[in-house]
Amino acid sequence: MSTPVPARTQVAIVGGGPAGLMLSHLLRLRGVDAVVLESRPRERVETRQRAGILEHGTVDALREVGADARMDEIGMPHDGFELRFAGRSVRVDMQELTGRHVMIWAQTEVTKDLIALRLEQGEPLLFDAEVLEVCDVETDSPSVRYRHDGAEHVLHADVVVGADGSYGPSRRAIPEHLVRRFERIYPYSWLGILADVAPSSHELIYARGRTGFALASMRSPSVTRAYIQVPNGTDPASWGDEAIWDELSARFALDDGSFTLARGPISDKSVTPMRSMVTEPMRHGRLFLAGDAAHIVPPTGAKGLNLAVADVRVLAEALGEWFATKDERLVDAYSETALRRVWRASHFSWTMTTMLHVDPDGDPFDEQLALSHLHHIETSESARRALAENYRGLALGDV
Ligand code: PHB
Repeated sequence: MSTPVPARTQVAIVGGGPAGLMLSHLLRLRGVDAVVLESRPRERVETRQRAGILEHGTVDALREVGADARMDEIGMPHDGFELRFAGRSVRVDMQELTGRHVMIWAQTEVTKDLIALRLEQGEPLLFDAEVLEVCDVETDSPSVRYRHDGAEHVLHADVVVGADGSYGPSRRAIPEHLVRRFERIYPYSWLGILADVAPSSHELIYARGRTGFALASMRSPSVTRAYIQVPNGTDPASWGDEAIWDELSARFALDDGSFTLARGPISDKSVTPMRSMVTEPMRHGRLFLAGDAAHIVPPTGAKGLNLAVADVRVLAEALGEWFATKDERLVDAYSETALRRVWRASHFSWTMTTMLHVDPDGDPFDEQLALSHLHHIETSESARRALAENYRGLALGDV
């Protein structure tokens, strides 16, 4: 059962996705009280399919808060990944090039563990709590007005954190004229599948096929996750199972014929549009934004969750210091510190996306640039190292 929600807390966290949940745990370790309000029901939060690669910094954060047991038992450490183009394959060995690996562990599972831990600790986390308004963030006593079980409530706090995604209500508390928004919409989407079949490769494969991008990923030794580039507005139901497998096979094919894709029953199909978005600043008065509320990356490279966790690591440190000593330097630097990493990841995600997708409008100049970049990665160790460093994630201080 969930713990009763007080009428006042130190940090009101709007949004119970990975950013808000992780922040609540990091704050608790620093002796700061928080309440997490989530508008959706628990089942919905726990079943949302998202990407599945954790940078080492994200793994460290899960260890720090004690949500690492299932990850260590079931998660899959990966030392490298593969790029395919023009019928050839290039392996990027992250471990050798950078001394680090990544962890394959789905965001859905991370979220489940963070929720379970919070409830186990008896700390306030409320589902089905619809936030109506974030108020008075320009004063010392901001608050959050929300509806739960048909009744309206007000949560008073010292600080409000908006971790409520790109369409959540927090952002509306920042006057439009103070916000700069940067956006890029891509001319393609991803059709993603989950299939009950062992992955065909022990590492992830990112392919620029002749007809577009494809990605082979996994959720476990017996569940394949895969994606293909499709036109925007595609209805997932318009793709039959065999057509999906045929397209995946064609896009992963190697000229020497050495690759065969294993097929199996498809249990889930969905289409994800691709966009990049950054809003600046990530703070207004006593309101701090974190994760998707402040920035969106396209899924190529799986930076979304990792960026959200990086934001809240910086924010937890800053708020911990502020509550303990009233020293404002770190909270004042939050937006700038977080945005440096956001832009690095935005550039990396954009690069991976444009390098590996086929522009449906067929811009031949862009296509040659993408192929040139892939050739460079194939032939230059320093190009592979730069890619590997960004993929496995840069240390908080190295961005
Ligand atoms: C996934 O497994 O869902 C996944 C993996 C790598 C990506 C994106 C998504 O770059």
